[in-house]
Amino acid sequence: MDKKSLIKRLNWFFSLELNQVDLYKAQSKAFAEEYAGLVFERLSQIEQGHVDNIGAKIKELGANPTVIGDVISPILGHTAGTVIGKMSLAEVLKINTMIEQKAMKDYKSLINELKESLYGSKELITLLQQNFIDENLHTEWFKTKLSELQTCEFSLQPL
Ligand SMILES: [Fe+2]
Ligand SMILES: [Fe+2]
Repeated sequence: MDKKSLIKRLNWFFSLELNQVDLYKAQSKAFAEEYAGLVFERLSQIEQGHVDNIGAKIKELGANPTVIGDVISPILGHTAGTVIGKMSLAEVLKINTMIEQKAMKDYKSLINELKESLYGSKELITLLQQNFIDENLHTEWFKTKLSELQTCEFSLQPL
């Protein structure tokens, strides 16, 4: 991998992370009455940390972080922003899981490629691993919460 293509890859993550900041912020407002709203707010802060650490790496490589636009909609196959208001918490959790899994998949392939590359400094690989682990933890919370909702859905209150 050459420097130019590494910068391109990092810019894709920069845009994805930025999109996730906005997405989780919107979700924290949509679910403000629930614990999930608090979690989404915290997640948007963590994703902002990813925006910042990826942005700093792009600058270290001598480039400016560039937003390449909406990268979430192609992952979902529809526009993310327009549907949040109408979605149930269960649907939101499923969508979030899809996006986080796409991020993990792509972080993983970049990490593996960097191990073989000239630009694969140990520091950059460690940073990408840390972001990957955060996404993994986010995914696990979404799955746990979804499973809790589904457990309630498929149970009855006694008379
Ligand atoms: Fe992230
Ligand atoms: Fe995440």
